[in-house]
Amino acid sequence: MQRVYNDYFGEFGGRYVAEVLRAPLDELEQEFQAALSDPTFRDELDRIGEEFIGRPTPLLHAENTTRETGGAQIYIKLEGLANTGAHKINNAVGQVLLAKRMGKQRIIAETGAGQHGVATAAVSAKLGMECTIYMGELDIDRQRPNVFWMEMFGAQVVPVASGSRTLKDAVNEALRDWAASFSDTHYVIGSALGPSPFPDMVREFQSVVGRETMDQLDTRGVTPTALVACVGGGSNAIGFFAPYIDTASPRLIGVEAGGRGTRTGEHAARMNGLGRSGIVQGYKSLFLLDEDGQVEATHSLSAGLDYPGIGPQLAHLGSAGRVEFARASDLEALEAVKTFARNEGVIFALESAHGGAHALKVAADLPPEAVVVINMSGRGDKDLFIAAKEIRGESWNEFLRTEADRI
Ligand SMILES: Cc1ncc(COP(=O)(O)O)c(C=O)c1O
Repeated sequence: MQRVYNDYFGEFGGRYVAEVLRAPLDELEQEFQAALSDPTFRDELDRIGEEFIGRPTPLLHAENTTRETGGAQIYIKLEGLANTGAHKINNAVGQVLLAKRMGKQRIIAETGAGQHGVATAAVSAKLGMECTIYMGELDIDRQRPNVFWMEMFGAQVVPVASGSRTLKDAVNEALRDWAASFSDTHYVIGSALGPSPFPDMVREFQSVVGRETMDQLDTRGVTPTALVACVGGGSNAIGFFAPYIDTASPRLIGVEAGGRGTRTGEHAARMNGLGRSGIVQGYKSLFLLDEDGQVEATHSLSAGLDYPGIGPQLAHLGSAGRVEFARASDLEALEAVKTFARNEGVIFALESAHGGAHALKVAADLPPEAVVVINMSGRGDKDLFIAAKEIRGESWNEFLRTEADRI
């Protein structure tokens, strides 16, 4: 198993922050180490995991899709059935518990799709912490239902109007807040990125997804051939892959947002030669940067994958060849949502459907004795307004107009 704390992964990672953030990051690193080796902390994490998150989440044999695809056996880790609808809650619970142990009273977080914001707000409500969530204005427009739920949990949602008004701008605002407030505030980063020790910490809290999957496969006597997960910043993928990273098999496949094509601003894929090495938001990794090192615009139908950087450990594992990377387009993701809904009765989040779409291609090229496991990182209820507009078109718009007229 990889080291739990590590400043760098190959050439990527590190802690490139203003002087003012060095002390809180040092403190966090020490407290994280201490918490991990404290059985009381681990027991509390497990108890909340079971009672509040709903762990273990199920592993579904997608028999109908397997039959239709005609290749490998397809399994789906239904992580989207966790409380608040996505894997984000695993990390939120871990970090908020850690913050409480450190004596902090206030939680801040950034959010893109809103899933991390909803998860952090829910855990803050449960554990009695004040909570502020930074969210880009564009993402607020795309994910209105999640804003509603964050506010229901008692969080203050702060719209971010700078830059592209998406996730990276929300991260900037949250970092600015933290630099002025760390004495009583913890910043819960939502993906396996940012300055050290965040990538290690987020992977550790998300690795429950991989450990459970391993146990569930073992119980059924099944050996996986490939694990497939979507990659925004990379937290669901690295948590899913974690127990397998140091072994030669199974194949580990990360799927990025191919959006509408490979032109600048049309996608959010950083691997396979599209990203450049750079230092952004406190860590070194592969980012979508122009020739002057400025962050480029990104696009994905799924807000959660619409981010210009990838977590440093995945950037390293991709460069080292342990993790393969592929892309799925907006349209392929939408098709996958339809396929899994029709065949299996489960609704993939648009983010997770990128992994699902590519997994179908991988499975089709493998024999029936092979096994492909997809991490359905989230469920798609939050995407109703996007998916229905794309899939139902004018009839959905007509429904919305009728609803608006009724107000
Ligand atoms: C359901 C879901 N899956 C995946 C992601 C992408 O994040 P990550 O790559 O950190 O798992 C998000 C981000 O919001 C999400 O909501």
